[in-house]
Amino acid sequence: MAPTSPIMNIMMKAAEKAGRSLIRDFGEVEQLQVSRKGPGDFVTAADKRAEEIIFEELKAARPSYSFLMEEGGVVEGTDTDNKWIIDPLDGTHNFMHGIPHWCISIALETNGRIEAALVFDPVKHEMFRAERSNGAYLGRNRLRVSNRQDMEMSTIAFGGAQLDPVKQAVYIKELNAVSSLAPMARRFGAAALDLCYVAAGRFDGYWERGIHPWDVAAGILILKESGGFVTTIDNQDNPVYSRNIVSGNNDIHDKVKKILKETAK
Ligand code: IPD
Ligand code: CA
Repeated sequence: MAPTSPIMNIMMKAAEKAGRSLIRDFGEVEQLQVSRKGPGDFVTAADKRAEEIIFEELKAARPSYSFLMEEGGVVEGTDTDNKWIIDPLDGTHNFMHGIPHWCISIALETNGRIEAALVFDPVKHEMFRAERSNGAYLGRNRLRVSNRQDMEMSTIAFGGAQLDPVKQAVYIKELNAVSSLAPMARRFGAAALDLCYVAAGRFDGYWERGIHPWDVAAGILILKESGGFVTTIDNQDNPVYSRNIVSGNNDIHDKVKKILKETAK
């Protein structure tokens, strides 16, 4: 049985409560697809509701800790060494379109290092979690990255198309370069789950530019604790804050990173 610490229990409770709220709202989304206004405002409200639930739960359990949240931004507590990094709804576009692939992401950063991480997909009842040096789990099962080395057979996820024409050009160039060697490249639309799927060996690699700390903070620890590699495309120190990320099992990480670096020349 996978060990759970008091801090992980707090995170799980918050995620489960927010997950129930999101599942209720997800059930409404399909009705709203046909309404004149569309589901946009409703989804924004669902997102905020979920964040409020997580905030209240974590605040009640650890009143002094600080927060970095996708919706609410930074909320400093009296303890700035401990910070929750929260994405209450990762995969918002999927959620809005009734596509059941989205999640909640919660990480605890202590003195600049992610110590505990949880990614919860309430539709599939999958809770990915990790604590530093204690391995990563999906439910009761320990996670382990794949050992696939063949790019042609690998599933490599990516994200990050931008409307900005310069960024869009880089995106297309990188996608061309990677998918010419790895034709099974796929875009799933929830960065936190992309990282967890690499951790679970479902994907062999994942890269993206333009991501935010709340998209990846939890997934990065889960992947590292599964034996995976996570670095930045542009050689920054900390992939949580670098806004660009490349990941995978050892071999695929290196291969994809090499392609991305060559593409940037
Ligand atoms: C987005 C998703 C998406 C990724 C974007 C993120 P959101 O987060 O993770 O997969 O490509 O970079 O912003 O907006 O759904 O919370
Ligand atoms: Ca997100």
